[in-house]
Formats: sequence, structure tokens, C-alpha cells
Amino acid sequence: MRLSATWNYPTSVRFGAGRIAELPAAVAEAGITRPLFVTDRNLAALPMTARALSALAPCGAKLFCDIKPNPVEANIAAGIAAFTAGQHDGVVAFGGGSALDAGKLIAFMAGQSRPVWDFEDVGDNFQRADASRIAPVVAVPTTAGTGSEVGRAGVLTDERSSAKKVIFHPGMLPKVAILDPELTVGMPPAITAGTGMDALAHCLEAYCGPFCHPLADGIAVEGIRLVKENLARAVHDGSDLDARAHMLAAAAMGATAFQKALGAIHALSHPVGALYDTHHGMTNAVFMPYVLRFNRSAIEDRIKRLSAYLGLKPSFRAFLDWVLALRQEIGVPHTLAGLNVGDDRIDRVVAMAVRDPTAAGNPLPLDKRAARTIFRRALEGRL
Ligand SMILES: NC(=O)c1ccc[n+]([C@@H]2O[C@H](COP(=O)([O-])OP(=O)(O)OC[C@H]3O[C@@H](n4cnc5c(N)ncnc54)[C@H](O)[C@@H]3O)[C@@H](O)[C@H]2O)c1
Ligand SMILES: [Fe+2]
Repeated sequence: MRLSATWNYPTSVRFGAGRIAELPAAVAEAGITRPLFVTDRNLAALPMTARALSALAPCGAKLFCDIKPNPVEANIAAGIAAFTAGQHDGVVAFGGGSALDAGKLIAFMAGQSRPVWDFEDVGDNFQRADASRIAPVVAVPTTAGTGSEVGRAGVLTDERSSAKKVIFHPGMLPKVAILDPELTVGMPPAITAGTGMDALAHCLEAYCGPFCHPLADGIAVEGIRLVKENLARAVHDGSDLDARAHMLAAAAMGATAFQKALGAIHALSHPVGALYDTHHGMTNAVFMPYVLRFNRSAIEDRIKRLSAYLGLKPSFRAFLDWVLALRQEIGVPHTLAGLNVGDDRIDRVVAMAVRDPTAAGNPLPLDKRAARTIFRRALEGRL
């Protein structure tokens, strides 16, 4: 099978090695004449980024790279200032989830008059926005994990409360995404592992969520199979373009599927990421088996079906063992200590986890007691 295709679901997606060459065409397809090119500082220093930016020089693209991993409001404010000063009419968001989310948020917020926190993904908050003033985005992922390139939200850390908040508007869905595995080849193994586990967490939490969404379920199980066949390959040989391509597809599938639900992995990972600035996907990877084990009674039948599809023995234990073996093979720490996270702020983590919007999508209720139990097990390595 040739790993190159153009899809129109969930947005216009140009998938395949070398397709970054189509960036100027994608910008035109999105209706952008003068893009602001948003990326982070690390990526801005790489030749592949300079090449993509220079291909857009004829339309006056300017670079904005003042984005930190786990972006904060000040990054968005500075980006909006650059967007306005440069009279841009759209954004090319180039990078991992941090740069993609920041680029999407700049394009969304540049035309709004209310503060960004008014658009937190709660109830119908998004309807407060002036949708006619949302600038178009072309999204180019350089990690394979968040799937933000096909998502309608951006994650932003609120420094006042040290909480990660999801800002949502349907109009934030990028007009075009370019999924080019060559751009992900330079990812170091630890980031490949962490981001790949984020994709797995999205598919898994979507699949286990307690709502009726068979479309999402179907996408999630195939996304999990792609992770199973390809994540360890991509970690061990970063230049394996087929594995890289399949992981980009899995990441996009995860984000498409989690419209259904996320759960306790994300509910616990968000406060830990906000309080300790840990990598999002790696944090999910640490929590994953403890959350699976906690949810067992509610998900056992589904996990059996999933295991059969994955070619494992159709049992919960076989799936859990596979997750544990994958974590070990790709270098995920077994406990929170591996992320330098201790029990010093456990009350805060627990309080924030139960309030996190993803908590409601856990198959079993995630109250304070449950969150504390899972957190303690992840500290102590007790499954
Ligand atoms: N919008 C969503 O739906 C969604 C979903 C999940 C996570 N997120 C958010 O996304 C962020 C995490 O994104 P991420 O996991 O992609 O990591 P990231 O964007 O923070 O990048 C991690 C590091 O990898 C580097 N990097 C990225 N691509 C590289 C490449 N090809 N070669 C070398 N280095 C590279 C970056 O410069 C950065 O230093 C978090 O803020 C998280 O909350 C968003
Ligand atoms: Fe995630």
C-alpha cells in the first residue's frame, strides 16, 4: 500500500512523505494570502523549518516562535500582536501540539474582544465568539501525538490557577493539514515515545468512554492497531518513514476519536503537566496502566474485543500486559518518580483532576477518592 493520500475527513488532509512541498498550495487552498508562520524556538532553528518558511516568502510570511512547550497566555498575546502588526490574514502552525495549539489560538483570538478564558470548553461557551473573525489555519505537525492538526481545540495553561484549560471553537479546525512523515524523523526517541503514547491514550480513552459514538469507536481501534504495529519501530529507528507515517495517521485518528471522550488518564495528566511542566504524552503514558486497572470492571468486555482485533489473547490481562511491555520497550518510566513528580502536591492534583473536563468521560466516576487512589498507585508502582 502506498502511504500517500489526500483525505477530506475530518478536514482537508494531505498525507505522505514529501508533501510539505505543497505548503504554498495548501496556504492558497485555505484562502490565506499573508500567513504568520507560528512554531516554537527549537523548531525555528531547524533547516526543515527554514525551508518551509522560505517557500512562503513570496507571500510575505513572517516567523513567530515565542512559544514555550505547554503554551501560556503571554505566548498567545505576543502572537496576536505579531499577527496584527504584520497585517496577516491566516496562520501556518508548524510543530508539535504546543506550536499547533498556539497557532490555532492566535488565529482564533486575533479577531475576538473577550478574554481567551471565556472560551473554555464548557457548555456552549464557544457561542460567545464572533465566528466570522476567525482566521484560517494550515496545520503541519512535526510530532505524531496530539492530533491537534485535525482538532477544534487548543490547550493553554492558565498561570493564575496553574491549570491546563481547553479552549474550543468549531472554527478552530485547520482548513488544511499536511501530514508529512519526513518532518517527524528528527524527533528524539523520548519525544517520539511520549507523543506516540498520547495518540494511544486518545484512542484508548475515546474507545473506553461511556457514551454512544460508534464512529469514534471504529476510528479508535484502528488507531490503536497502528500504534501497536509502529510506535516501537519509530522509537528504535527514527528514520523509518513507514512507521513515522502510520504514527501520524494514528495521531490524527486519536484526535478525531476523542470527540467522544477522554478520561482519567488525561484528567490526572493535565494537573501534573500544569504543576510540574512534564511532557503531556509521557505523563499519560505513566498513568495509563493504573487507569486501565482502576476502570477494569467497566471496560473489561470492550477491552476483550479490542484485544482480539489486535491479535492478542482476548483478555483484559493480555491487553494490560501489552501496554506494560510497550512502555518498557520505549522507555516510559513505570512510576511518577521517573517524571520527578512526588506526593508533595497530591491534594492539589486530586482537586484539579476531578474538576478537569475530561474527568466526566471516565468509564467509572472519578471522584477525589478515585483520583487519589490512582495517583498513589502511580507513585508507588502498584498495579
Ligand atoms: N489540541 C489538542 O487536542 C491537544 C491534544 C493533546 C495534547 N495537546 C497539547 O499539546 C502539547 C504537547 O504537544 P507535543 O506532545 O506534540 O509536544 P511539544 O509541541 O510540546 O514538543 C515537544 C518538544 O519536541 C520538539 N519537537 C517537536 N517536533 C520535533 C521534531 N520533528 N524534531 C525535533 N524536535 C521536535 C519541540 O520543539 C519541543 O521542544 C501540550 O501542551 C498538550 O497539552 C493538545
Ligand atoms: Fe492528550
